[in-house]
Amino acid sequence: MTETGTFAAADIPRILRELTLEEKASLCSGQDFWHTQAVDRLGIPAVMVTDGPHGLRKQAGATDHLGLNASVPATCFPSAAGLASTWDPQLMLRVGEALGRETRANEVAVLLGPGVNMKRSPLCGRNFEYFSEDPHLAGELAAALVTGIQSQGVGTSLKHFAVNNQETDRMRVDARVDERTLREIYLPAFETVITRAQPWTVMCSYNKVNGTYASQHPWLLTEVLREEWGFEGLVVSDWGAVDDRPAGVAAGLDLEMPASFGINDARIVEAVRAGDLDEAHLDAAVTRVLQMVARAQAALAEPGSFDVEQHHALAREVATRTAVLLKNDDGALPLDLEGAAGAVVLIGELARTPRYQGAGSSQVNPTRLDSMVGALAERGTAVPFFPGYRLAEAEVADPRSDAELRAEAVTAARGATAVLVLGLPAIDESEGYDRTHLDIPASHVELLREVSAVAERTIVLLANGAAVAVADWEQHADAILELWLGGQAGGSAAIDLVAGDAAPSGRLAESIARRLTDIPAQLSFPGENGTVRYGEGLFIGYRGLDAVGADVSYPFGHGLTYTSFEYAGLAVEATEVTEQTGARDAVVRVGLEVTNTGDRSGVAVPQVYVGRPGSAIARAPRELRGFAWLELAPGESRAVELTLTRRDLSHWDVRRHEWVLEPGTVAVAVGASSRDLPLSAEIEIVAPALVAPLTAYSTVAEWLAHPEAGPALMAEVEELGTILDPAAGDAAMHAFLAAMPIVKVPMMGLSRAFTTETLAALLQRFGER
Ligand code: BGC
Repeated sequence: MTETGTFAAADIPRILRELTLEEKASLCSGQDFWHTQAVDRLGIPAVMVTDGPHGLRKQAGATDHLGLNASVPATCFPSAAGLASTWDPQLMLRVGEALGRETRANEVAVLLGPGVNMKRSPLCGRNFEYFSEDPHLAGELAAALVTGIQSQGVGTSLKHFAVNNQETDRMRVDARVDERTLREIYLPAFETVITRAQPWTVMCSYNKVNGTYASQHPWLLTEVLREEWGFEGLVVSDWGAVDDRPAGVAAGLDLEMPASFGINDARIVEAVRAGDLDEAHLDAAVTRVLQMVARAQAALAEPGSFDVEQHHALAREVATRTAVLLKNDDGALPLDLEGAAGAVVLIGELARTPRYQGAGSSQVNPTRLDSMVGALAERGTAVPFFPGYRLAEAEVADPRSDAELRAEAVTAARGATAVLVLGLPAIDESEGYDRTHLDIPASHVELLREVSAVAERTIVLLANGAAVAVADWEQHADAILELWLGGQAGGSAAIDLVAGDAAPSGRLAESIARRLTDIPAQLSFPGENGTVRYGEGLFIGYRGLDAVGADVSYPFGHGLTYTSFEYAGLAVEATEVTEQTGARDAVVRVGLEVTNTGDRSGVAVPQVYVGRPGSAIARAPRELRGFAWLELAPGESRAVELTLTRRDLSHWDVRRHEWVLEPGTVAVAVGASSRDLPLSAEIEIVAPALVAPLTAYSTVAEWLAHPEAGPALMAEVEELGTILDPAAGDAAMHAFLAAMPIVKVPMMGLSRAFTTETLAALLQRFGER
């Protein structure tokens, strides 16, 4: 392997001329699990890429891609489900910078993450690694994270492109999604990150998208990613995602990972020789691989170091920010932990054996690990601990049964404030498979029931990587604090929050449905016979729950803190949209004022949702289009202004295959969650009319709605005038005729004057060109 630091982008055109066909093919796959190929004779070094996303997983010894073998110690930050709950791009930048520093210090060129796949179902086994059910939120936060990581001179890999929303059958399932849903739900988070932060690499997913493997999908990898969004980097396969390698090269998949033991390199050579693969495609792929290698050289030459303690402190701060206070009756939290011995008791094995990250390829070997039990000991409090239930991965072997552990905890909790740590055992959430239900273990629920019956107050802390159902047991808790998977400092951060040293500031980035059957996507999740049909279309997450009018336990965007806020003074202004208005130009300005009405400082996250009452197309009742993050001192008020762009108000038109803005009423609602929207206003958007292209199969109503064709049709066919004029004629007849494709009118002899010639003449004048 060549020494690093000597290979530059300027050398690439010359090198490309000197490479043999075999060498070019070899550069398009890995040398092993984690390195790209070197070509020593031309001075091309290998670089290392490694997981990701919420910490570095650099395996120094035996390698695998499922996190089975140990890696070098690195800071384990909260996983993306928690990061997303911060709703804070500035914090994402700081986390990104720290991740980038560690990546660089370990001489790794690219950190494999973040993952911005949508949480179509709460059951997806990898939801802990994904941001949200909402593309706007996921895109904003991931773009900041990527910017932070890449500011350190190392790259990222935005994954898993695309439509990888389940683990069941992930290596072959064909995700069938309609065009509008793809554009409005499954692609925008990728688009935002690419257009705003230019990740060095994008990782294609394992699955098929509408019949074609993502790893050989020209539309995804070239047309959309590069031609439309202007992606300048390299596409790498998910580990083992390649099916037909030459087809992948032609489609835009540059680098296959890991090594395919020469098998696919030989196929590339063969395909070029046989004339089945244009060498220009291979050259483009090689060029992108070499550009990535060249880009990494500066950082590799000066890796620097990172401060383990400082990063741990950051992980702790971040973990206090990821937690979401779901419920806090009568100000149950925060607690005085310094009181008399036994006034507060801590219960639940998860307090001693923290669940702080998910299983699979993202598993980090933390530099330190804080448990809640340890954090309490460090504070010197007299809070006793009781395991309360058995946990397969428990750090301390305890032969007692669930019933015995529960009985002990219930005795200790009598008359005390009980802090119960409940959640999902590790086996429930992992890369590679999905959950089958939303429940926490029965032993946890039973413990809660019995403890809450005797305790003075009951506080539930939840440790899980994705939403769990709370509807059947939440009435037993005075407060519920959702901690997600809090990373290596999650234990101390939880105690900071419970004690009130920090105030919860997270907001839900995923809905907590009452039951699985309320979620429209579950009707076709996870599919069968190798296919999953996204039958619910746009209606995932809160979009679906709102559309069917389901009650939820806690809505998207919800989160309490130790103070309260008032939202007031909504002002909404619109600018006229013309042909010249750019996609990113502001069209609507939303102003409001937020006041901290409590007596301690806290974080407010005002959220702006947009609906389109009276729209001609199917819409979710409301969609998140903007948010702000502000910390306010007691009594402090601050003005917030958010802008909505033309694109924010547009939908994907499947006839034109482009974003269009429907003129008319826009309903703007602002508040503290998707279901707590105290401020609302309607505003008219003036924009060029959307005129449907007319054909023989356009309905009579569509012809009539056309500003020129409508009057022409009425003039041509006077005889039909009374029927076509809804004011004058028979309403039933009008409705009947209006719904008919116009081609049927002469065929069915509905009018002597309206002949096939009349239609031909109208089509000549107004028909689709
Ligand atoms: C995962 C990726 C990961 C890769 C390398 C795959 O199984 O899907 O997210 O980056 O392995 O470990």
